[in-house]
Amino acid sequence: MTSTVLTVDDLSIIHPARRGRQANTAVDRVTVTADAGEIVGIVGESGSGKTSLAMAVAGLGRVTDGVIGVGRVRPGPRMSREDRAAVQMVFQDPHASLDPRQSIGRGLRELRKLHPRRTDWIDDVGLLARVGLPPEVLDRLPHQISGGQAQRVSIARALLLRPTLLLADEPTSALDVSVQAQILKLLKELRDTDGLTILFISHDLAVVRTLCDRVYVMRNGVVVESGRTAEVLEKPRHEYTRTLLDAVPGGTARTGAEAEPSRSRGTAPVLTEAPVRGAS
Ligand SMILES: Nc1ncnc2c1ncn2[C@@H]1O[C@H](COP(=O)(O)OP(=O)(O)O)[C@@H](O)[C@H]1O
Ligand SMILES: [Mg+2]
Repeated sequence: MTSTVLTVDDLSIIHPARRGRQANTAVDRVTVTADAGEIVGIVGESGSGKTSLAMAVAGLGRVTDGVIGVGRVRPGPRMSREDRAAVQMVFQDPHASLDPRQSIGRGLRELRKLHPRRTDWIDDVGLLARVGLPPEVLDRLPHQISGGQAQRVSIARALLLRPTLLLADEPTSALDVSVQAQILKLLKELRDTDGLTILFISHDLAVVRTLCDRVYVMRNGVVVESGRTAEVLEKPRHEYTRTLLDAVPGGTARTGAEAEPSRSRGTAPVLTEAPVRGAS
């Protein structure tokens, strides 16, 4: 039996007028669900309301109307620390989400101190292996690892807390195409091996096609189309979806992990990425 992990029911988000900006309806009566072990995509161009939606689901953003549920958790400003841990986020700029003065190992130790019971299921070396990183990374500072490695660290930090839902907001948009494909492959593997449920947010339909089981197409705060990814992309019903498809090089919206030769998974360290600093 499938169980629903994420319910976003009739959500509206209106950012109030401020400093000369008008009030803005960023999300307009949006309904989204994700079942356990599903990778659900939210796709739309910049400004369509994707991040406003994600922040609300994380309990960090404004909710004007509607109801959000993640398992038994009701995301919002009054969530307990324990409930907050249930929704983990991975962002576009991996280096920005890591403390620059802290080694990767020390960062993990702090996280374990905050959530001792939630994090005792795996040690640091085992955790890094899950995201394809060698133990040496523990001693490095964030600027001493590549963008792709830093994104793997962000994913590891999220996994450590055994989240009910992983929210990934443009997690590969700042990475080189080859590194992007590796990160997408990792997310897919984590879903396959751990049954992780992922809400994957992107402006890039090609990336969504590679990864997502179902997709919601957002435009100006409204979901204009949704369904199984293959169906939506092969038979787009909405003009806007067609426009997004046309923007994909070659028009086929095919790229990334599918095209990548298979690599041994699990404990094999991935060190093929050149240590490009701030690969953004
Ligand atoms: N904190 C905020 N205050 C006012 N307006 C905002 C705020 N955050 C986002 N917006 C506006 O809401 C709309 C949707 O933005 P956002 O959710 O960031 O979309 P996306 O992630 O799809 O680019 C945009 O018009 C943006 O300018
Ligand atoms: Mg955004």
